[in-house]
Amino acid sequence: MNSVIRTVHRWTSLVFSLIVASIFAGMAVTTLPEWFYYLPLPPLAVLIPTGIYMFFAPYFSGRQDALPAARGRA
Ligand code: HEM
Repeated sequence: MNSVIRTVHRWTSLVFSLIVASIFAGMAVTTLPEWFYYLPLPPLAVLIPTGIYMFFAPYFSGRQDALPAARGRA
């Protein structure tokens, strides 16, 4: 489950980045239709819940050693 969420987040971030880059590239060459500026929103709507899930998952795993603050400690 955790790895599925992480993989979804990873690939969606790639799609999101490409869309944002294409907006900047498109703005440099032409006047884009207004709907084009809304294209990053669907992938962002996936990134926010999956990202928030990954942020809080360690705190609910019951494993104190999995907490980010515990990294580097024995
Ligand atoms: C908007 C809300 C977002 C939240 C709350 C969020 C949160 C997180 C969290 C908690 C992690 C795991 C970090 C760790 O392992 O300690 C993560 C990983 C990651 N995030 Fe986000 N993120 C968000 C948006 C984005 C965006 C906009 C991008 C890039 C366009 C992005 C790209 C990534 C990537 C590439 C990883 C690594 C995934 C992997 O393990 O391969 N995230 N994010």
